[in-house]
Amino acid sequence: MKGLILSGGKGTRLYPITFTRAKQLVPVANKPVLFRVIEAIRDAGIDEIGIVIGDTGDEIRQAVGNGRRWDVTIRYIEQEAPLGLAHAVKISQDFLGDDRFVMFLGDNVIEGGISPLIRQFADSGWNSQVVLTEVDHPQQYGVAELDNERRIVRLVEKPRNPPSNLALVGIYMFDANIFQAVNSIKPSWRGELEITDAIQWLVDQGCQVHPYIHRGWWIDTGKHIDLLEANNRVLAELTHRTEGYVDRDSKLDHLVTVERGAEVINSVVRGPAIIGEDCRIINSYVGPFTSIYHDTVVEDSEIEHSIVLDHSRIVGIPSRIEDSIIGRDVEITFSPIKPKAYKMTLGDHSKVGLL
Ligand code: TTP
Repeated sequence: MKGLILSGGKGTRLYPITFTRAKQLVPVANKPVLFRVIEAIRDAGIDEIGIVIGDTGDEIRQAVGNGRRWDVTIRYIEQEAPLGLAHAVKISQDFLGDDRFVMFLGDNVIEGGISPLIRQFADSGWNSQVVLTEVDHPQQYGVAELDNERRIVRLVEKPRNPPSNLALVGIYMFDANIFQAVNSIKPSWRGELEITDAIQWLVDQGCQVHPYIHRGWWIDTGKHIDLLEANNRVLAELTHRTEGYVDRDSKLDHLVTVERGAEVINSVVRGPAIIGEDCRIINSYVGPFTSIYHDTVVEDSEIEHSIVLDHSRIVGIPSRIEDSIIGRDVEITFSPIKPKAYKMTLGDHSKVGLL
């Protein structure tokens, strides 16, 4: 089998974090979501992976390279515009050939890997397998209707009256019949070739589309709140380790990772949390569910339940920062010199809550 990862798209819902960076490269528990996807596919025994890229392609190529780091070969497939998930399949036909393949959205995180479901599909005669999970608000997803024998009857995108609470998770498996499907369907009202329409086409043609019900968690990191949620989940599952320096005056939980070159001085870090390479945490409190990416300084400040990206500085902030996503090269400082005032340089679409 081959793997196909979709990493084009615009990531508008994650602005401003994704103004300047591909959303699939935003780290969750200090590892880009896309790297987690590559590892999940590699762990399922697949070593040929195609990555569909768009406007942010250069950045993705640079971060991922040729795949040697994961013992896989990576081929990049350029999509001229985000014209839909089925369009991404269409342009990948040369790479995929007649092989069965798994397609994974490059911004999704799933509990427990995908090895069992890949194995199940690889050993089956099914033409496709889709992964479904129970959700609270099916109106916001692609939803599947199953018959009494748990066969897929119908797929609907964001239905007003959902036929079930089983949403499509961003993982799909296909054989070569999918190319006929993506070449037969027409763009939807939003101008995209929809993967739900392509799968519906398979169902209508009598192809065997098997539903796999996933029982663990699954998160599409499309929005800020989902990114924080994914960070919580992954941090809670990590095997933690201390590779950096922690001085005697600091207190660390066992659920804390301190990466190489990082220093924790006179601070309290409560896990689950991760402090990235070459960070400096000085006279500070870092609370549960916080990921601080590489080369960031937190000094005389308190932060919890947040993600801070690389090369940022948070210094002398008098009240605790919570539920926040702070971008790259950001400075948040406090000046005790009068007149007291907030001084900020904020990019477009930034959100700041002040006391
Ligand atoms: P989406 O989250 O549906 O789209 P998006 O990335 O453009 O985000 P937003 O709605 O915030 O603007 O995409 C899911 C994944 O699939 C994501 O990793 C991007 C990728 N994708 C493609 O590679 N090609 C496409 O044509 C589309 C629509 C998405």
